[in-house]
Amino acid sequence: MLSRVKSQFPIDTTGIRSASTELSRWYKERWESLVGHTRGPLDHSRVIERDGNILPPFTNYNKWLTAEAALGISLTLEFAKRHRGYLREAILIALSSKMRSIGNVDVDVARAEYRETPRENVDVLKHVVGAMTKMADAISQSAETHSRMIGSAQSVSLVQSDVLRADLAPSSFDFIITSPPYGVESSSYLRSHLLSYRCLEPFLGVDPYDFGKHAIGSEYVHDGKPLSPDTTAWRTSPTLRKFFAPLIAGNAPRAILQRCEMMVQFFNDMSTLGSKFRAWLRPRGRVAFVIGNKRVGTDVIPTDAIVAELFEALGFTLERSIQHKLKCNNSNAQVPWQERVIQDEFVMLFRRDGGA
Ligand SMILES: C[S@@+](CC[C@H](N)C(=O)[O-])C[C@H]1O[C@@H](n2cnc3c(N)ncnc32)[C@H](O)[C@@H]1O
Repeated sequence: MLSRVKSQFPIDTTGIRSASTELSRWYKERWESLVGHTRGPLDHSRVIERDGNILPPFTNYNKWLTAEAALGISLTLEFAKRHRGYLREAILIALSSKMRSIGNVDVDVARAEYRETPRENVDVLKHVVGAMTKMADAISQSAETHSRMIGSAQSVSLVQSDVLRADLAPSSFDFIITSPPYGVESSSYLRSHLLSYRCLEPFLGVDPYDFGKHAIGSEYVHDGKPLSPDTTAWRTSPTLRKFFAPLIAGNAPRAILQRCEMMVQFFNDMSTLGSKFRAWLRPRGRVAFVIGNKRVGTDVIPTDAIVAELFEALGFTLERSIQHKLKCNNSNAQVPWQERVIQDEFVMLFRRDGGA
């Protein structure tokens, strides 16, 4: 849904802008009739039991959301349901994009957890309308500067799949632009998105825990059994062996050892990804690959050098690597384990060989 909204947008933003105006009017009317002073204090059960509510009472929902936030989400979902197609999904994605400012999400822990002290005075309408306006403005600005590069919504094909299991036509792509996860635990996609999955469940119909194990680099890749370092990546990349072999063979604490094993597994996934790209690209086709250098313990893993070796072994030439410092302006996304988060990013530009 997120990819559809980001890629199949209408160039004319009138629909998004008028839906946001209509949402404001509709929401305020409904809110007034539900919470007006004659109705007594709002509590969670009134939100869930009200006519028109589709917000499911998922586990601990009353800890994740204050009653006011739950009502705001419930009204936004009901409003979205009254629309179809792009508009419906744009409203839902606007809501989802603000979930960390709406819910009691604890950003100070690595796992998906709610905070003990609920977030007060959450104005869901203001957040959703703000996000929809930002989306419409971004489309209008892109149309002003890049109209020749924007294809019609119908020209975009979306494939929903685990990339490591995707089966796309061989030699059918000119370019691949991708930003894969940067390794194990650099950020938890589950932590960031769990609340969105729970609240949007009536539309998405999925539980992220069901497919979490297919997420590259996810911390739950590891099921407790030691991973064998003897993988394709291990055999292919001398830099990988040079970095990890002493750590794995030495007296590193168990936690560090586990991280090493998971990172070796991560690089093996990157090697599988590279072989998929080699098959999908036309001869001389190109890849732009964004990657960040993470740490294990105090050592920075030379991710860019390892990825270069893995891709070169598969028939790619590294044409250029653009390095830059990762900046994070979003204070909601900053975490106490910030030093474990990637500091340097690289955009690595590869060209596939000319072979069949
Ligand atoms: C660094 S983020 C890139 C985000 C992307 N550039 C965007 O604008 O949405 C890495 C993304 O890879 C996705 N991912 C992880 N494992 C995957 C897999 N096996 N197949 C496809 N995507 C995967 C994650 O869910 C995450 O959205």
